[in-house]
Amino acid sequence: MPSPFRVGLGHDTHRLEPGNGLVLGGVMIEHDRRAVGHSDADVLLHAITDAILGAAAIGDIGELFPDTDPANRGRDSADMLRVAAARVAEAGWRIENLDCVIFAQRPKILPHRAAIRQRVAEVLGIDTDAVWLKAKTGEGVGPIGRQEAIAAECVALLAQDS
Ligand code: CDP
Ligand code: ZN
Repeated sequence: MPSPFRVGLGHDTHRLEPGNGLVLGGVMIEHDRRAVGHSDADVLLHAITDAILGAAAIGDIGELFPDTDPANRGRDSADMLRVAAARVAEAGWRIENLDCVIFAQRPKILPHRAAIRQRVAEVLGIDTDAVWLKAKTGEGVGPIGRQEAIAAECVALLAQDS
């Protein structure tokens, strides 16, 4: 019998440049840098999108929303996540929980954790308790530590929706 549970992993990186804020988990955070990307460059929502799509084995974010398609330029990542979540639900899966990590030297993410968890849960229509978020600096080394990049990872657990 196939397993009633599936795990998925998502990872994403965006380049940083001087600017006026980051969108993380659908929440605008004041900062002296911005993330560069074809969409709104929400690295956390992109990692979450790939985690749930991977768990359901139905593609990845680049396949669903190619960056060659002008329709995806500046697109709201929450909108892409909603579409991905709908596909996951159509495939017969329910999101049990997400556990995420943001890799950023700055800004401090913890003060924004509650707002981000709430927003992600709202976009997915799941309990805030089912979304956890952590953050790590780059310890001052590498592209994360030098604030040249921001990254995020997410693991998602899906359960068969019977
Ligand atoms: O202490 P350790 O080296 O394990 O981790 P760190 O990268 O120095 O981060 C220490 C703590 O700061 C993390 O556990 C988070 O609680 C917080 N943090 C944060 O709020 N925002 C970041 N961008 C990075 C870390
Ligand atoms: Zn991305």
